[in-house]
Amino acid sequence: MSLILLSLAVLAALMLLAGPADFLGRPTPLVIGHRGCPARRPENTMASFEQAIAEGADMIELDVQLSADCQLVVIHDATLERTTNGHGLVAMHTLEQLRGLDAGGWFDPRLADQRPPTLAEVFEAFGQRTLINVEIKAEALCLPLPGWTVVELTLAEIARCGLERTTVVSSMSFDALLMARAINPRLNLAVLAHGPKPGIDTAMLCQAIGARAFNFHISSVTRDLTESLHRAGLLALPYADASVTPSAMARALELGCDGFFADDPAALRAMIDKQGGAKAAR
Ligand code: G3P
Ligand code: CA
Repeated sequence: MSLILLSLAVLAALMLLAGPADFLGRPTPLVIGHRGCPARRPENTMASFEQAIAEGADMIELDVQLSADCQLVVIHDATLERTTNGHGLVAMHTLEQLRGLDAGGWFDPRLADQRPPTLAEVFEAFGQRTLINVEIKAEALCLPLPGWTVVELTLAEIARCGLERTTVVSSMSFDALLMARAINPRLNLAVLAHGPKPGIDTAMLCQAIGARAFNFHISSVTRDLTESLHRAGLLALPYADASVTPSAMARALELGCDGFFADDPAALRAMIDKQGGAKAAR
């Protein structure tokens, strides 16, 4: 009898160190399309999200900024130059002006019909097909607007579309996460940071706000970090720059990460499939 109990305890400990086997109904490790599928489509466009899902992504990640007329627009930078044919601040343009921009031609002239999507448009097209990580960009909190407008609007859109169970809200702004938690105690949150901050226990920080995951740059990954997150029941989810190598992704999986924000979802899907679903292989 005591041998059985001991075996069960060891099994439970191993499962904790390995992290959860699934998240919001999807088996881990999660293939997360980072801004969609920027390896083959212009980031944060409908074409990019469609491509990520076609390549086997379990989740798509997107970035939210606010337009001048307080509409939620899916675009990474606070300025327009890098990913559209516009100029200046996103927040100085109305939604109508932003919708007139080409968000795909810089990547491929055949995709010049891509527009910066609204959050509602993405939710309506993909909300029933995939998990969605909405990153509220910290810049959107620095506008001369009452309260935490971008947080309130984002949560209202999630609720309107009935996507509370299948979305995760993340932000580099801890204040934004605190506000989101105050508005909705059930919301899935992820703390987003380059890495652990000196003198702060990352798992405790995530637990303090009831987050489900810690999203961090791959350069900060260590086995100690993933194991401490798993002991706290949290997911370890790294992101990277476009230049991430296959060996860096493989290392993240080896160290127990529960998914990856991949610019090339197909490559990550192939890697995970080759490992036979990965959890079993650890
Ligand atoms: O959420 C992970 C990742 O998207 C954060 O970095 O710069 O791609 O928004 P960035
Ligand atoms: Ca992002």
